[in-house]
Formats: sequence, C-alpha cells, structure tokens
Amino acid sequence: MSGDRKIHNLALVGFMGTGKSSVGRLAAELLRFEFVDTDELIEAQSGLSVEKIFKTQGEPAFRQLEKRVVQNLAQQKKIVIATGGGLISDPENLASLRTHAMIVCLWASPETIWERVRSQTHRPLLRTEDPLAKIHELFARRDPVYRQADALIQTNHRSPKEVVQQVLFQFQLARR
Ligand code: S3P
Repeated sequence: MSGDRKIHNLALVGFMGTGKSSVGRLAAELLRFEFVDTDELIEAQSGLSVEKIFKTQGEPAFRQLEKRVVQNLAQQKKIVIATGGGLISDPENLASLRTHAMIVCLWASPETIWERVRSQTHRPLLRTEDPLAKIHELFARRDPVYRQADALIQTNHRSPKEVVQQVLFQFQLARR
C-alpha cells in the first residue's frame, strides 16, 4: 500500500448480500471503532428509506446523497464503514475512501448472493421480474470495480465471524 495513504479507517465494499453490515459491526466491535453504514446515514439525513428515495426521487438522486455521505466520512477516524453495493461504482467515491481507509471487498458468487437476498424485500434494484438475472448483470458490470479494493475476501460458505477474522488480519497488515 502506498506510503502517502493514511489508513485511519476500514471500508467494506462489495455486492448486496455479501455481509458488509454484519461483518462491519463485528469488526468495529473488535477494533473498538465506530460502525457506520452509508445506507443508514443516507436514511438518517434524508428522513427517508433507501427504498422510498429510489421510488420517489430515482436512483440518480440516491447516488448524489451517497456521494455527499462519502465526502463527509473523509474527516473521520476510527470508523468501520459498510458501503452500499453500488457506492464504489463512482470512481470519485472509491478515490475518496482510498485517502483515509483500507478498502476490503467482500466477495460472493451471484448464486450465493441470490440465496442470501431472495427472502429480503428492501432492495429496490432487485425488485424486478428476474432478480437473479439482475444480479448477474450488475455483478458483471461491477466485478472489475470491486477488484480495485486493497483486499478481496471470499465469503461463500463462511459465517460473518469467520470472515471478520480475515478482514482484521488484512487490516492489521495494512496498518503496520
Ligand atoms: C445498492 C445496494 C444497497 C443500497 C441500494 C443500492 C446497490 O446496499 O445501497 O439499494 O446499488 O447495489 P447493500 O449493498 O447494503 O444492500
């Protein structure tokens, strides 16, 4: 990792359903950092659910709110950030996170993702006739972006407790 980066924080990126929030909460607890979730920050600041923002204002408006949240995180220290699945598709968001955080991508196959999210209803992008096809489409588009993370951690067949050990190992190495 380049010498001019300051690794104050840990950012978890990756597709929906890869466990960013559950692993992030555990990581924050173990590191004694604060946990923040970009979707929750957007909801708190706008007073609307992510679903409602997509529905009434559209995805571009949601992405603007997401960008503002990312910019505000740059001043903070000792936080674990769980990001929304599309957040680093915006290169400026990725570049901003890179200035202060180690970026760890949680990875899972589209089939595993589908198994994890199929019973959930709060993700507007998957509210389509064929959600698995949508996962494949988004996954193909985003995979090259996720691979720009500092570390990629496989979560298929692993519990959040197993994944967090690997995340923290990578984080400690990066901070040395
Ligand atoms: C999105 C993922 C969601 C949320 C929004 C858009 C995406 O977050 O930000 O529904 O573009 O993949 P999770 O990854 O936490 O589900």
